[in-house]
Amino acid sequence: MYYSEDLVEEVRSRNDIVDVISGYVRLQKKGSSYFGLCPFHNEKSPSFSVSPSKQMYYCFGCGAGGNVFTFIMEYENYSFPEALKLLADRAGVALPEKEENEETKRQQNLRSRILEVNKMAAKYFYYQLRSENGAHAMKYLKDRKLSDETIHRFGLGYSNKYSDDLYKYLKSKGISDELLAQSGLMNVDEKRGMYDKFWNRVIFPIMDVNGRVIGFGGRVMGDGKPKYLNSPETKVFDKSRNLYGLNVARTARKRNILVCEGYMDVISMHQAGFTNAVASLGTALTSQHASLLRRYTEEVILTYDSDEAGVKAALRAIPLLKEAGVSAKVLSMKPYKDPDEFIKAEGAEAFQERIDGAQNSFLYEIDVLQKQYDMKDPQSKTLFYQETAKKLMTFESELERENYIEAVADRYGVGFDNLRKLVNRMALKGSTIKIPEKNHGARTEKEEGIRKSQKLLLTWLIEYPGLYQTVRSYVKKEDFTTDLYQTVAGLLFEQYEAGENNPAKIINHFTEPEEQNEAASLFHSTLSVENRGEMEKAIKETIVKILNHSIEERKNALDPMDMAGLQKVIADRKRLQEIQKMKITL
Ligand code: UTP
Ligand code: MN
Repeated sequence: MYYSEDLVEEVRSRNDIVDVISGYVRLQKKGSSYFGLCPFHNEKSPSFSVSPSKQMYYCFGCGAGGNVFTFIMEYENYSFPEALKLLADRAGVALPEKEENEETKRQQNLRSRILEVNKMAAKYFYYQLRSENGAHAMKYLKDRKLSDETIHRFGLGYSNKYSDDLYKYLKSKGISDELLAQSGLMNVDEKRGMYDKFWNRVIFPIMDVNGRVIGFGGRVMGDGKPKYLNSPETKVFDKSRNLYGLNVARTARKRNILVCEGYMDVISMHQAGFTNAVASLGTALTSQHASLLRRYTEEVILTYDSDEAGVKAALRAIPLLKEAGVSAKVLSMKPYKDPDEFIKAEGAEAFQERIDGAQNSFLYEIDVLQKQYDMKDPQSKTLFYQETAKKLMTFESELERENYIEAVADRYGVGFDNLRKLVNRMALKGSTIKIPEKNHGARTEKEEGIRKSQKLLLTWLIEYPGLYQTVRSYVKKEDFTTDLYQTVAGLLFEQYEAGENNPAKIINHFTEPEEQNEAASLFHSTLSVENRGEMEKAIKETIVKILNHSIEERKNALDPMDMAGLQKVIADRKRLQEIQKMKITL
């Protein structure tokens, strides 16, 4: 559904940001802004600010920021259309009716009907666990040391001993066989027709981030097989995009998320106070899981089982997390099998110590690697160092690489200089270098420098609107080669040309919360001018740097036959020389 820019802006301007955020965060006025405890990270003193004049919020602690849409999207984990709908309703703005085709309507309808059936089933299971039928299941959970509160909080249930118990119940509620077949709650076969998938099992309802029941896991009580049965994938249940416990973990206000293998592990950890624990749904962690996690945290601690399968799972997960921009650590559960057993045996405090001592994922990988070599045999040992050096080469930043060389050298008793030489020699040989794929996180130092300059200039232009008049004939939006900054520059310059000053409107143009945060940070820098002369010099230098880069980029991309393009580059170079003479005043 497309909403016009005007409509989006109308909804935004009719929802005062201080009013809206006050509904979620306790704010106190300080000077021209309001301050409160940031809802997006854990803190004790308020660094979360809301500006009525800019109609934006920004956290000086974690960098979260944006306009009223961003806030609702991040807080409620809504998509943009969902946030727009909430705020339109709140302000009484009518949104145009969706014009969907029949097929999408049917699909959406099916989704919501499956969710409805799931909710009914979850309630039914919940009730059975608390009835006489479920007494032995309740005893099973109690024997596993779950408290009443925990059993309630996770909505645990029980499926009765008969093979058509839920079927009969849902039929009595008027649910069609067709819908039941789509819900994943039933098995269908030719001989027996339709019957319950889960019987005589403890039931774990699986919820999405918004707390809607999307599927179920069921455990036998005792040693039967299979130990766990899970709902198959359905229209509402995609195992590679959902994590058990994330609906709670996302609001846990901890600096990281614990990722484990099992339902019971999640529940045990939550019960012990680690409410930031999640598990994948009986499958390996996927790249979609990694991106999902990235929305809520920058650091994941892998708390996989301490068996061989757990090590394999960790080695698979680490690169996926890294690729998504999440740093990983690995927690050792030894000598216990999994978090559930660890906590039962050693308690929460000891588990916290393991969290604090979780190992950096790179060093973990090297540790695992080392076990494949015989360190008493010189040849095997040499091979291990060569493999390690290969891995060390993949760090693009020199500082980071050196730090890791140092850590590895320390750990395995090899001289720092020797290891560094080995890494450098390999890098020189080139052929074996594994050039890391470019990902969102990794940029070269030069690119990073240019980005910073562009960001800085934008910040200045925002802080000192007068500066725009001085530089408008020299700096164009195209000179901001970073996409996000180019968009902001374009919109900002348009506003300045029209005599307008509306930062929150600029944020409307970004669809991803990450982009909104980044754009918002531009409007919330605290520049302190101590020495005007110095500052003016710095601005000029920054402009020169940005233009130099922008001209270079265009020149490199130029077709040699493109005369007009070439002339433009020459003209730009002249522009650059003029700037050197320009007098900048704030
Ligand atoms: P585990 O076998 O490690 O179980 O499986 P667990 O979490 O320790 O469970 P308890 O403590 O014995 O009750 C880890 C996860 O793998 C999936 C489930 O999601 C489980 O939580 N699994 C396991 C299945 O889907 N089917 C199975 O038969 C076994
Ligand atoms: Mn277990």
